[in-house]
Amino acid sequence: MNNNLADSDPVIADALANEKHRQQTQIELIASENIVSPGVLSALGHEMTNKTLEGYPGSRFHGGGQFVDVVEQAAIDRAKQLFNAKYANVQPHSGTQANQAVFFALMKPGDCILSLDLAAGGHLSHGAKPNLSGRWFESHHYTVDQDSGRLNYDQIEAQALELSPDLLIAGGSAYPQVIDFERMAAIAKQSGALFLVDMAHIAGLVAASVHPSPLPHADIVTCTTTKTLRGPRGGLILSRSDKFAAKLQSAIFPGVQGSLHSNVLAAKAVCLGEALQPEFKAYGQQVVTNARALAHVLMERGIKVVGDGTDTHMVLLDLSPQQMIGSEGEAALAAANITSNKNPIPFDEPKPADWVGLRLGVSAATTRGIDEIGMTELANKIADLILAASDDNLAQVVSSAQDTVAALCERFPIYTVE
Ligand SMILES: Cc1ncc(COP(=O)(O)O)c(C=O)c1O
Repeated sequence: MNNNLADSDPVIADALANEKHRQQTQIELIASENIVSPGVLSALGHEMTNKTLEGYPGSRFHGGGQFVDVVEQAAIDRAKQLFNAKYANVQPHSGTQANQAVFFALMKPGDCILSLDLAAGGHLSHGAKPNLSGRWFESHHYTVDQDSGRLNYDQIEAQALELSPDLLIAGGSAYPQVIDFERMAAIAKQSGALFLVDMAHIAGLVAASVHPSPLPHADIVTCTTTKTLRGPRGGLILSRSDKFAAKLQSAIFPGVQGSLHSNVLAAKAVCLGEALQPEFKAYGQQVVTNARALAHVLMERGIKVVGDGTDTHMVLLDLSPQQMIGSEGEAALAAANITSNKNPIPFDEPKPADWVGLRLGVSAATTRGIDEIGMTELANKIADLILAASDDNLAQVVSSAQDTVAALCERFPIYTVE
């Protein structure tokens, strides 16, 4: 118990050190990632992880929970303040479990879900066939217009009126444009459905008031605390009213979860506190500015951006004009220490190996301090890498991009203080 990790478990200590070095020396462009503050990190690594507790503040099944109560109540209060919500549950261990709890609270097996198609940017936990939500519910999906890459609300309305779903879900993992939450809420109401918005990707942008909030329109909102919100891995359930509070509370515990991850609750409270600071608004604004700079350069260089731009932190590329698939794009960027992920684009092939999309997100790079000037420089290197993937001068292009990434990492370091 008294050894440090390097002595007691060098395999894991090395992997942790290598991971930290990897993060320090590459530019993270995976849209679901971010770089948490030292405050969030120290809460995650705190002795509070030793505490077992079930239930809610003031009503626990174990003793000794007085300090975790402080933490959980602070997280609840901050979440409510940040998102202007009347109800907040901060216990979901993940975004998927937040969604499961909503299903468990409000639906029966066999009920009907209408959500965004996976290839058009939806999420597995919204009724995709391999997911529990797709097995236990009858799920149907709306998609985007093939030409514009954008949601077609008239079509969604027609589909909803025909299906009369029990739950309409908006939000996803790869839809870079603003969603008209008001219109979606009207469609839900007209078709007799409850309306859930999963704002996992945009929660930080909503918190920073640089993106419209779904809270005034949705019956329930879920999100992760990772991604743009820049917190630990975990989820939140929010609502503008208390109408579903009792059902949601018992759906999380004892419905789909057991004891709390107390240290993660502390980290959530820290991240929510950070998001309430004025600096976070400036951060959110810079994220959107950076994403737009990235999309602008890539489009100027002849690379196809789905939806012709972005309103968020995310830019989705269609590499088919370059005769590339997403995994080739991912590898081209990885050669220069830029991390990204292959992704389907609307109407893409079903097999991940055939997807032609590449998803980029700027939340982590913006946290490092990179602004639109640095992002423009990086975007040009990304364009060079994609366009030169099959050229003779590839080695030179890669080496030049590596130099740019190394210089940006040195100029905008992370986790330099032990
Ligand atoms: C829209 C959306 N919902 C839910 C999730 C799931 O979150 P988790 O990975 O915490 O289960 C994600 C994760 O990427 C997401 O993008």
